[in-house]
Amino acid sequence: MSASGTTVDYHGYEPFDMADPFSAYAELRREAPVMFDDRIGYFVVSRYDDIKATFEDWESFSSENAQAPVRPMGEPAKKIMADGGFTAYSGLSARIPPEHTRIRSIATKAFTPRRYKVLEPAIRENVDVMIDKMIAQGAPGDILADIAHDLPTITILTLLGVPITRIPEVKVWSNARGILTWGDLTDEEQIPHAHALVEFWNFCQGLVVANKENPGDNLVADLVRFQSEGDDISDHEIASLAYSLLFAGHETTTTLISNALRVLLANPESYAALVADPEKIPGAVDEVLRYSGSIVAWRRKATRDCVIGSVDIPKDSGVLLLMGSANRDASVFDEPDSFDIERENARNHLSFGYGIHFCLGNLLAKLQARVALEEITKKMPTLRMMPGAHINFHDNLSFRVPTAVPVEWTN
Ligand code: HEM
Repeated sequence: MSASGTTVDYHGYEPFDMADPFSAYAELRREAPVMFDDRIGYFVVSRYDDIKATFEDWESFSSENAQAPVRPMGEPAKKIMADGGFTAYSGLSARIPPEHTRIRSIATKAFTPRRYKVLEPAIRENVDVMIDKMIAQGAPGDILADIAHDLPTITILTLLGVPITRIPEVKVWSNARGILTWGDLTDEEQIPHAHALVEFWNFCQGLVVANKENPGDNLVADLVRFQSEGDDISDHEIASLAYSLLFAGHETTTTLISNALRVLLANPESYAALVADPEKIPGAVDEVLRYSGSIVAWRRKATRDCVIGSVDIPKDSGVLLLMGSANRDASVFDEPDSFDIERENARNHLSFGYGIHFCLGNLLAKLQARVALEEITKKMPTLRMMPGAHINFHDNLSFRVPTAVPVEWTN
């Protein structure tokens, strides 16, 4: 049934249902590659070439709606945020040129591979401690709760100069941001998350103040220094970058590490191949990103009357790009529904977007997944999925996040 009460064929696509969207994606690619979905008010695009071309054409398809709540914010949540002084705006992903170009070039100067490659030994040590703890506690375990939840969070907090004792709050704030923006909540359900976002934003502003008064060796301090040396970036923009990185910098990597183990253990011969030959791990990480990306849908807005495929897209329309579908498009990937860690073109996936907004943290995300897999395959060669485990996913428009990855092993 459509929003207006008439019967419409959505080809099995349920925008917020992340349990197993892939058969619906396949039908959409075949039957309705550009479909207007009146339940969410977006044109849903499912073919690889159309999605890549839309990402690439940033002048016709702006990212200004990328962080807008899918469901309009209710009055109670709006009031809480206004009273709390919430003025955060996207760090980069929803900004458009020339502002985006200016801020991205300054952020890129701070977010250099040098800044995070030095963290590799600490990441390895952190994952080792987590694995040893799992082994000491004995099976069963949960890859998500025991490793993937904290590992990237510690990394991003370290990069931003935030004490790791703040992990629980950062996770609550990030969850609030994810669900308020891409979830399907009632006005009442939004209220606690609105309070969390106010706290989150105040914290980010506080980071800028703290690094002005007492600069640390961290990314926020670098941005503050660039500003004092003449770079054109305001305090509000630095706080917005912190607000973005403290969200984007761990949630999606938590999901990547969880998905990596979930998919590898569902294909035990692939896990065994990595145990036997760790050199295969980087390719496997790309294949996980293709086969089961952390973000399966991302938004754009038409800045003028456009056409995607053969469908007219009127100016100001919202467009939802299903990267999770693009990554299973047989016109690009042979046997797209097979998980193949040796796939030669796995890196052509669109899970990090494409074009001017291409994910700034993609190398850090892949580095962490690689290190986690190197240590897990070495220390837990007999790891396997808990027999009979059924993995659920949180409801969301964009983020496909498992609730747990239950595992067992033989000591
Ligand atoms: C598996 C992990 C990750 C995935 C799947 C992912 C995915 C994405 C996607 C889909 C976009 C939007 C791209 C577009 O609009 O074309 C994006 C942008 C971005 N990501 Fe990531 N990301 C991940 C990890 C990270 C990490 C670890 C960081 C930072 C430490 C990060 C920081 C950013 C930033 C700052 C942007 C905005 C870039 C811009 O608009 O110029 N991401 N990411």
